[in-house]
Amino acid sequence: MRKNKRDFINSAFTILTLDDDPIMTATLQSYFQIAGYHIDVENDPYNAIEKVRNGHYDILLLDYLMNPICGDQVVEEIRKFDRDIFIILLTGHKSLAPPIKTIRELDIQGYYEKSDRFDQLELLVESCVKSIRQLRTIKGYQDSTAALIEAMPQIYSLENINRVGENILNKIIELLNCKNGFLKLNFPKDEGVEIQEFIVGEGIEGAKGMSLNALRERFSAENENEKILHACLHDERANAVGFMALGFEHAPTIFQSQLFQLFARQCSSALNNSQLLSRINKSYYEMIQVIRQMVDAKDIYTRGHSDRVAYFSYRLANALKKEETFCERVRMAGLFHDVGKIAIPDEILISDRKLTNEEFNIIKMHPLKSNSILSVVSYFKEIAPIVLQHHERIDGLGYPYGIKGEDICEEARIVAIADAFDAMISTRRYSRALTIAEAVEQLKTYRGTQFDAQMAEVFIEVIKDWDNLTAELELCDKL
Ligand SMILES: [Fe+2]
Repeated sequence: MRKNKRDFINSAFTILTLDDDPIMTATLQSYFQIAGYHIDVENDPYNAIEKVRNGHYDILLLDYLMNPICGDQVVEEIRKFDRDIFIILLTGHKSLAPPIKTIRELDIQGYYEKSDRFDQLELLVESCVKSIRQLRTIKGYQDSTAALIEAMPQIYSLENINRVGENILNKIIELLNCKNGFLKLNFPKDEGVEIQEFIVGEGIEGAKGMSLNALRERFSAENENEKILHACLHDERANAVGFMALGFEHAPTIFQSQLFQLFARQCSSALNNSQLLSRINKSYYEMIQVIRQMVDAKDIYTRGHSDRVAYFSYRLANALKKEETFCERVRMAGLFHDVGKIAIPDEILISDRKLTNEEFNIIKMHPLKSNSILSVVSYFKEIAPIVLQHHERIDGLGYPYGIKGEDICEEARIVAIADAFDAMISTRRYSRALTIAEAVEQLKTYRGTQFDAQMAEVFIEVIKDWDNLTAELELCDKL
């Protein structure tokens, strides 16, 4: 027999009925099964307590006068571990009902005087069901909001716009527990628009390759597809910059739908932040480049130094068989390691006289200055700690912190070798340039004290190919 709508709705609620009279429980079971409820029966009060403890019941219908313990004692036990279950007490006669004070104290939702007709009891159960449904709605909102709040920091912390799309789609799929998703992002770039598509699972049929307008039109018209949730993502001027759709196995619930819409709004905002961050990073990068060139240009003896340090650092990391992202990080650190010198007064930085201890201590501040200049934007956050340590030594006699050995990060140990080597082979105010052979001797002398011994060995191998290195460095104007 086909279930009607009421049966379908009621089947979402479970009832336990307890009475020491098996005829009574069988009658109740039969009555409420016909009404579409899932109903279990129990004739032993202690077993009923355990059933409530171990199972999930929404409503308990129980007799008041029972052996070996009465209904109010059963409720008292149950209330010690379950405050949520709705309880209706069945009494043989009004005069035998527990006092109203007990009913209130035990949080019993109602009592029913047994009779041949169960329609009044059914009304009581229906009123419990309404309350339970409202509580479930509130709980659903609370859970959805909590899930969204938890997901947002991750979405907002995404710095690279290229990674945002992938993360957004994965996060919403995890939150809404579906399998298929599609996200299209159209972001204005310097010239034109950058289009990216992300697909999880099987994606959404036919969505790939469609324009934002076409997607919007198609899915707005496709109201009949109850298994798809979709939303447009907008920039701060309300221009469409993206489209997201999720495919579900069954029609999504109202919570999933509302959570999706909330998430989509938050994503628009996160994408705008990310785009803004990209612009900030780009302009800050340009500014740091200018600072770097200014530092190099301050002193005729250091021109091209940071380019060469970047190059040697990259080659050494490469020879150490580090992965490309590591090598690139080291190259960037080499490029910007001395930007903090912009904050050192010229009369100290390019002084022709011997510096006092106090002045030399000011110069020693430059790794800290480099670190603080680069820490301002997230784009440089990975290289800021490297530049901070580029004057530390393996024996702990470096600066600014005097940390030693492997407490100095690998990247900084690499840059330190590249930096010192370029200083050796360059003419400086107080020293002539060393030949390559002489510089190699210096590296050998100070391996294990100033330099990481193993890295110094590898670097010596790298510079054996000096002719090729200088050819690659031909763009640097000093060599
Ligand atoms: Fe330096």
